[in-house]
Amino acid sequence: MRTNSDTALITGASSGIGATFARQLAEKGYSLILIARRQDRLASLADELQQAHSVRVETLVSDLANLNDIKTVEKHIGRLEHLSMLVNNAGFGTTGNFAELDVAKQIDMINVHIIASVRLCRAALPGMIARHQGTIINLASTAAFVPIPGHIMYNATKAYLVFFSEALQAELVRTGVNVQALCPGFTYTEFHDTSEFKNFNRFRIPKPLWMSAEDVVSKSLKALKRNHTVYIPGFINRCYVAAMRNRMISPLLFRFVKRKSRELHESRAN
Ligand SMILES: NC(=O)c1ccc[n+]([C@@H]2O[C@H](COP(=O)([O-])OP(=O)(O)OC[C@H]3O[C@@H](n4cnc5c(N)ncnc54)[C@H](OP(=O)(O)O)[C@@H]3O)[C@@H](O)[C@H]2O)c1
Repeated sequence: MRTNSDTALITGASSGIGATFARQLAEKGYSLILIARRQDRLASLADELQQAHSVRVETLVSDLANLNDIKTVEKHIGRLEHLSMLVNNAGFGTTGNFAELDVAKQIDMINVHIIASVRLCRAALPGMIARHQGTIINLASTAAFVPIPGHIMYNATKAYLVFFSEALQAELVRTGVNVQALCPGFTYTEFHDTSEFKNFNRFRIPKPLWMSAEDVVSKSLKALKRNHTVYIPGFINRCYVAAMRNRMISPLLFRFVKRKSRELHESRAN
């Protein structure tokens, strides 16, 4: 067993970007605490990483839409001697107009994206500040910058994470703790495989707009050295967000994105 004192806790580690963070951090020698609902996935990832990299891997089955489970993870963090990295990655999307959607699922999204991330940050920070060392990565999205009908809770919760991370980093100047709001665009993971996206067709989105989870994670970890609080991986994603933030261009681009999104909905309905 390698004895690196660095420990990372990753939520949503059972697939996609979270599992990729786990693989890349294990390669660097981090001890890991992996969190998600699917126990079998966590267990097989833990076996894989222990065998490949001889690192310590702990798993914790938690539903982060549930406050009691969030509190259990908080307590776990409180008992850790040394948490060097927290990756608030767990997340999911829904499609459909807010007025027609199951409100419980929308509240679950607020719990998973916002309440869990905020509470776990709050639990991790005192130890990180005391040790003058720590990293927090909050998984936002390019969707944080684009309020698209049909995905409004997703847009709003991700926008919250961007603002929260920026303001938190400003408070944490000279504490040795770095915060990154990671804002990927379309990424090949299981995100679009749920029943919510059953009619979503990946091939309707041009290939250059997609990135691999491996690329997103390696770029995010490299960007930590440059202390970018809001980090958008990929040149095309950065251009898209810059255009959305430009008052001259954004109304036109927004109309285009809204029309494309509506077409996607219409093609689903047909
Ligand atoms: N893929 C994209 O295009 C894209 C783009 C921008 C941002 N993102 C963000 O990236 C993050 C990771 O998503 P991904 O693309 O890697 O998708 P993914 O493969 O579907 O992974 C999502 C992870 O979140 C976990 N999760 C979902 N609901 C949970 C809950 N209630 N409690 C605990 N864990 C939960 C899932 O684990 P269990 O199901 O086992 O609980 C899974 O490990 C999300 O925050 C997503 O919003 C994704």
